[in-house]
Amino acid sequence: MMRINRFGDTELQVSELGFGCGAVGGLMVLGDHKEMLRAVEYAIDSGINYFDTARMYGDGLSEIHTGAILRELDRTDLLIGTKVRIAGDEFEDISKTISDQIDNSLRRLGIDTIDIVYTHNTIGAERNVPSGTLSVDDLNSVVKVFEKTVAEGKLRYWGFNGLGQTNSIKEALAQYSPSGVHTCYNMLNPTSGYKLPKTFPYQNYDGLMTAASEDGIGTVGIRILAGGALSGSMERHPIAQQNVAPIATSSTFREDVSRALTFEFLVNEGFVDNLAEASIRFAISNDNLDTALIGLSNFDQLKQAVNYTNKGVLPKEALDKISGIWAVS
Ligand SMILES: NC(=O)c1ccc[n+]([C@@H]2O[C@H](COP(=O)([O-])OP(=O)(O)OC[C@H]3O[C@@H](n4cnc5c(N)ncnc54)[C@H](OP(=O)(O)O)[C@@H]3O)[C@@H](O)[C@H]2O)c1
Repeated sequence: MMRINRFGDTELQVSELGFGCGAVGGLMVLGDHKEMLRAVEYAIDSGINYFDTARMYGDGLSEIHTGAILRELDRTDLLIGTKVRIAGDEFEDISKTISDQIDNSLRRLGIDTIDIVYTHNTIGAERNVPSGTLSVDDLNSVVKVFEKTVAEGKLRYWGFNGLGQTNSIKEALAQYSPSGVHTCYNMLNPTSGYKLPKTFPYQNYDGLMTAASEDGIGTVGIRILAGGALSGSMERHPIAQQNVAPIATSSTFREDVSRALTFEFLVNEGFVDNLAEASIRFAISNDNLDTALIGLSNFDQLKQAVNYTNKGVLPKEALDKISGIWAVS
């Protein structure tokens, strides 16, 4: 059965599996209407109650489709999260950009109040316009608009994207106490949920998710399947993003796929049927993760994700063996 978790210290109750409406999977961007409808209906019937979108996904298409499908199903009671992103010249007037973007997201989604809005930019010690990085100080202007928008009733909660420089993200969480944070968490890079030595080969998030959860910040897991590489296959679904840039893992998708195969023993030893199952059950095995987003390109992937989630957490023996792989990486 789908577990429901309290989202940090908020009043939101989120399902352990969240519906990713992004472009990596592509279902809610380029999918056929019938397939979207069938998937969202199945997700709801399976206990999924959180839908994660952003204005960036399909240049507004994901928000339009997500809002329309939920209205068609008459399920406007479910939780929607979206994101704002400042780019280029918009850095010159962060407040107006955020305020306009929230209004536009409300219009595209066709709702009066968004449950939670996240920043989509990375966070760093210094502002970096070309890379779209907000400094910890920049977030001050963002938060002021978020708070004003909450007071106006357009937003219920707000949060940050936990991507960028680890120390700066942690500083931002401590300074602004957002309600939620997106964090990259998977078997290739588990550092947001496990303290691993400084020698770990990829970006070390240094227990970001654990600390956030302990501080009452809701946690949203992204890249649970490393953008698809953790399926162990290079093949991409036709409507999925064809070139996926890894986040905090190897420098190429191909390398991630080959690293994923080091977890093949979980299949050979009978813990799981395949690597996608291992990845999803690995994510839901961490109590500090409130909702694990899953990117989808079709209905079957959702059905499988629900089926894997219903099998429950991985046994301790499997988790210990996974830790053994990190120890030698
Ligand atoms: N805050 C941020 O900056 C941020 C960044 C990334 C993602 N997100 C959120 O997280 C969501 C998930 O995206 P993600 O990038 O993290 O992707 P992901 O879930 O790590 O990977 C999604 C890909 O995994 C493959 N897959 C899914 N189910 C499968 C199954 N049962 N068997 C085999 N392969 C399967 C699919 O590849 P194929 O399509 O090729 O089959 C799919 O496109 C997004 O929709 C978005 O809401 C947020």
